[in-house]
Amino acid sequence: MKHIAVFTSGGDSPGMNACIRAVVRTALYEGLQVSGIYRGFQGLIENDFVEMNGHSVSNIIQLGGTILLSARSADFRTAEGRRKAYEHLKARGIDGLVAIGGDGTFTGANVFMQEYPDLAIVGCPGTIDNDLYGTDYTIGYDTAINTAMAAIDNIKDTANAHGRLFFVEVMGRDAGFIALLSGLATGAEDILIPEFHTDLDDLVARLEDGFTKKKNSSIVVVAEGDDAGGAFQVAEEVKKRLTNPVDVKVTVLGHVQRGGRPTCMERVRAGRMGMSAVYALLEGQRGVMIGEINRQIVYTPFEQAIKHNFEINPSILKMVKVLA
Ligand code: F6P
Repeated sequence: MKHIAVFTSGGDSPGMNACIRAVVRTALYEGLQVSGIYRGFQGLIENDFVEMNGHSVSNIIQLGGTILLSARSADFRTAEGRRKAYEHLKARGIDGLVAIGGDGTFTGANVFMQEYPDLAIVGCPGTIDNDLYGTDYTIGYDTAINTAMAAIDNIKDTANAHGRLFFVEVMGRDAGFIALLSGLATGAEDILIPEFHTDLDDLVARLEDGFTKKKNSSIVVVAEGDDAGGAFQVAEEVKKRLTNPVDVKVTVLGHVQRGGRPTCMERVRAGRMGMSAVYALLEGQRGVMIGEINRQIVYTPFEQAIKHNFEINPSILKMVKVLA
């Protein structure tokens, strides 16, 4: 292997830049040529490459977003789009790719490699959602939960000053990890996540119980993909059922969770994963995602990583019930 390329794809996440930096610096250290591809698969189809050197990644370790930009590519879902992408890689003599992204990215990478078996792609898990099997943490998750926690702390101050009930919506279309940890870290009254059915009557009973115990304010953290709906919908339903007259407010945190300076753990982990991805390519690995489990680097085939067969730890769930 002589020439590799790196790209970021799907929803961006803090720490992606630290990962790009590690891929580039490791490749150069090992004597490889390294290119960047702008806007993920879309840039690959449109031949949007940039030659990377040591300076290309200077002073980016602390930045959120991604210097290579990102996109969700509809064209890459077509065989014609993938054919163009393959031809650009071959014309440039690129034989290895590092894809930094989430389940959509690895689904695309898998199809691409099945069609073109001479391609080697290794993935680094980049998503704030933490919803990939085969790693304890995805790149971006730690920063996102800390951003959400800080925002909810602020909301708690004002909720308490006015004795209000707040529904705070956090990101997570299919996964409740952001809601779970940010809710636990802020002492939320309840946490609603897509992995479990939400019983609104139970929630109301729990909130009413809090009011009888003279709790001045309450926070309910709602993952955007919860089966009862987003925070606005849940708040409306709860308001109809509450017997106590409570002032109810809703805050949607949205994309504030996607940006910002990556935390210390994020930068170090992203660097380790980026470096490991290059060594995995050099070892002859293909079609695997780099992950960190119990502090060890592990490889998980893309098909398994994207299956969403992770479980929420029952002892963490118990904390929600016991400690609120
Ligand atoms: O996958 C990361 C994520 O931030 C999800 O939590 C969220 O549902 C989605 O991306 C939002 O995507 P977009 O920025 O394209 O609206």
